[in-house]
Amino acid sequence: MNPLSRRNAIKTIVLTTGALATSGALAQPAATPPEVFKLPALGFDYDALEPHIDAETMKIHHDKHHAAYVAKLNAAVAKEPSLATKTVEELVTHLDTAPENAAVDIRNHGGGHFNHTLFWQHLKKGTGGPQGDLLKALEQNFGSFAKWQEQFGDSAMKVFGSGWTWLVLRKGRLVIENLPNQDSPLSTGGQPLLGIDVWEHA
Ligand SMILES: [Fe+2]
Repeated sequence: MNPLSRRNAIKTIVLTTGALATSGALAQPAATPPEVFKLPALGFDYDALEPHIDAETMKIHHDKHHAAYVAKLNAAVAKEPSLATKTVEELVTHLDTAPENAAVDIRNHGGGHFNHTLFWQHLKKGTGGPQGDLLKALEQNFGSFAKWQEQFGDSAMKVFGSGWTWLVLRKGRLVIENLPNQDSPLSTGGQPLLGIDVWEHA
């Protein structure tokens, strides 16, 4: 092999090896976290809640913010595969016994995923307010639906920065609780019934 053709041969090998390495890196499935948790569909059109919440806010909130919580929770699963056998509700409920390397991710991103999933299910226009057992329980615990609305709204105004105001069933009673960031009443033994998400669209 003359020097010129040897140089060409080396160049070809380097280029080919480089190309293989590159295509190998691109084909690595481990680079993308498994989709154990999935972004649920909104269940209605982005503009369904206008004029109260505009379509753009709904789109960003669901497609970007909620999607990011799901993606980061899946990234946590890639690091700690034992999370994949649980539902997000189970993960958030048993935060106190979560693996040490995943507790912060479950609290923030698991909480964000669970809270928002509940939130989308509860948003509806023109329902005429609660009825039946829920109305009775609100009257028993807060005096009337109007009084509960007032207390719930007042409480939400007091959330500092990012957080939620929740209507929670706790030890057989309905209570209003404010929690910071994506913390969920589930993690302290409460059952969240309704939440106001305070911050991105406050
Ligand atoms: Fe949110």
